[in-house]
Amino acid sequence: MAKYRIAWLPGDGIGVEVLEAAKVVLDRLALDADYLPGDIGWEFWCTEGDAFPERTVDLLKRVDAAVFGAITSKPAKDAEAALVPELKGRGLLYRSPIVRMRQLFDLYVCLRPIKAYPGNPLNYRDGLDLVVFRENTEDLYAGVEFSPVPRELADTLGKLAKGFGPFAKLSPDEYAISCKINTKRGSERIVRAAFEFARRHGRRKVTVVHKANVVRATDGLFLETAKQVAKLYPDIAVDDANVDAMTMWLLKNPFNYDVLVAPNLYGDIVSDLCAQMVGGLGFGCSGNIGDKLAVFEPTHGSAPKHAGLYKANPIATILAVKMMLDWLGETGKAQALEQAVAAVIKDGSVRTYDMGGSSTTLEMAGAIAARL
Ligand code: IPM
Ligand code: MG
Repeated sequence: MAKYRIAWLPGDGIGVEVLEAAKVVLDRLALDADYLPGDIGWEFWCTEGDAFPERTVDLLKRVDAAVFGAITSKPAKDAEAALVPELKGRGLLYRSPIVRMRQLFDLYVCLRPIKAYPGNPLNYRDGLDLVVFRENTEDLYAGVEFSPVPRELADTLGKLAKGFGPFAKLSPDEYAISCKINTKRGSERIVRAAFEFARRHGRRKVTVVHKANVVRATDGLFLETAKQVAKLYPDIAVDDANVDAMTMWLLKNPFNYDVLVAPNLYGDIVSDLCAQMVGGLGFGCSGNIGDKLAVFEPTHGSAPKHAGLYKANPIATILAVKMMLDWLGETGKAQALEQAVAAVIKDGSVRTYDMGGSSTTLEMAGAIAARL
């Protein structure tokens, strides 16, 4: 029996190709693992009404880690229209599989390293090396949403919330409500994870990203909790910033930052901005990490228009595999893989289209594997 069981979830679109590329480097590294393919993606939504079928949920209960590609998702109306005729009109709701996975398996840390590899022509600034910790299970992603808004809820809000006044007269389908729900526990554990990481990796500062000046209840709780946690780490500096200002400062003074920690939605947004500073989504990698399971993925989506063309840059996925190796404790292999990626970027003769070259997905993977 192999040492590790790894769920292999390509999804659809370019997810399939970038995972094929990831497999090239994993095979070269000879990781002692069984790769167990799982059904997930748009086609399972269309044919089964579930993009993340129960059998795949079960698979994830039996593995050490998973590698996930990407999945196409569409607005509710288009999703309904894509269902096979037998499934239409049953009120099935499309929910993003990756969001469900994060919640179902309590993968509360979304870890997104942001590193400018020397020689990458897409670097916004050379030398950047940030890490984003994004809370991954709650906040505006809680999935508590109303459209139309039930009368009962409107009546209750009318009684309890002053600010609800202007909305109280609207009819149920004239507005919608999405709840931002943040817990002390959820906030505490993501901030702790950020500080623990900072301490373990010799990072100097953690910046708490929020909008507590306006979103007082939830972001206030996040910020207050973060300040309490920070007291346990006197060796590490802490500061905080409103998310809007943060996006400006990140562009203006990116070297002022080190580790960022944010509630789910701000983390989602800020991590895309950060990824763009080091080459865009072809370089953004992500770990969804819980206490028992971790799922690693490129941050990019399924890019249906590129699907099957083998032009997508697989580096994001290969760096996600590097994160998985670290998480599994295979630090030697992780280091070797990162060095191989760095060497190929620096050399510059193999570049995918986003980097200004014409190499294919598999040529990039091959070049990285050849350095291992
Ligand atoms: C991400 C993505 C996802 C998210 C989408 C695909 C649901 O943008 O991982 O950052 O919003 O979390
Ligand atoms: Mg995102």
